[in-house]
Amino acid sequence: MIVVTGGAGFIGSNFVLDWLANPKAEGIINLDKLTYAGNLSTLAPLAKDPRHIFIKGDIGDSTLVTNLLQQHRPRAIINFAAESHVDRSIHGPADFIQTNILGSFNLLECTRTYWNSLPTEEQQQFRFLHVSTDEVYGSLGASDAAFKETTAYEPNSPYSASKAASDHLVRAWFHTYGLPVLTTNCSNNYGPYHFPEKLIPLVILNALNGQPLPIYGDGMQVRDWLYVGDHCAAIRRVLEKGTLGETYNVGGWNEKANLEVVKTICAILDELRPRPNGGSYAEQIRFVTDRPGHDRRYAIDASKLERELGWKPAETFATGIRKTVEWYLVNPEWVAGVQSGSYRDWINQHYVA
Ligand code: NAD
Ligand code: TYD
Repeated sequence: MIVVTGGAGFIGSNFVLDWLANPKAEGIINLDKLTYAGNLSTLAPLAKDPRHIFIKGDIGDSTLVTNLLQQHRPRAIINFAAESHVDRSIHGPADFIQTNILGSFNLLECTRTYWNSLPTEEQQQFRFLHVSTDEVYGSLGASDAAFKETTAYEPNSPYSASKAASDHLVRAWFHTYGLPVLTTNCSNNYGPYHFPEKLIPLVILNALNGQPLPIYGDGMQVRDWLYVGDHCAAIRRVLEKGTLGETYNVGGWNEKANLEVVKTICAILDELRPRPNGGSYAEQIRFVTDRPGHDRRYAIDASKLERELGWKPAETFATGIRKTVEWYLVNPEWVAGVQSGSYRDWINQHYVA
């Protein structure tokens, strides 16, 4: 067995579904607190698969985590669980400190106790893989080189600061206690099952619903987009072949300004689902107040992962974004399920007129 935390969220659920799509794959214990971002309907296709065991719970609950590890004796833990939305971290940072820092600390401590109790051979095979973000490196200027694994941490938002803290804890548990850890720092993901408070799914769904497409500031902030399936493949590769204690940057070499991303989505929708009145969805674009402390540019240098572990993304932005738009068009039930009351509360609170 392996344990996945946060496996009902966007990337975690894609990872679980991809992993179990392989009939020979080991089973997964999926520990998720089911916050607003967790969604069991994504995992519905696994309802009859005995290899998937879902446990609703908090990575910060030491009794629960300790019992789970003793009972299921996993050979690896992959930690996706986190509060992950920058804008929410600005409105309310406390949950980010609680889960991303204290929760990760608890998970590391429970893992350390469990790992110490294993026979030598199982200890040697065990892995703790921590899933992190490129946002820990801070913001780049237009002509700066992309983030490398050696770039200094300069987090700017409560979200990125809390992820940076967890990365440091993971590093220290390796150096101090010898816990066999691996860390991945990935750029912005997009793809199926993405909660529509993040830019790409928000724009697709607002466009279809005739709502404004909100662009913060001048829309020239740059993100380095990676299709979620490529991120999942990179994690599997690092889990299998990564060198203990190392960190690996994961990215798609797909730097795009936000405005370009939004216009690309509009163009695909114009083609696949033309507006009844014949105009372009781009007419719905609205420039809104910028995010406080908005990082200008992220770019990932993923050459270490390619050179050392042979990973390369399969999707370009052009292929991945088209797949993503198509997925949202053919999955209206999933969309309706996540656009619940609490989702509308967030939209009303954040996008004040
Ligand atoms: P998400 O917000 O969609 O999902 C997070 C999941 O974690 C949810 O299912 C939630 O219920 C669960 N969770 C939250 N607090 C928990 C707790 N205390 N205990 C157990 N479960 C808890 O996030 P995501 O986009 O899937 O991101 C997953 C991981 O990848 C995060 O660690 C994030 O920092 C990292 N990451 C995300 C991106 C991105 O673009 N989304 C890029 C790089 C790295
Ligand atoms: P987001 O998807 O929240 O990811 P992150 O902040 O982690 O990069 O945002 C991606 C980019 O899109 C970021 O520069 C902020 C911007 N953005 C908008 O312009 N409008 C929006 O409504 C949202 C949600 C994001």
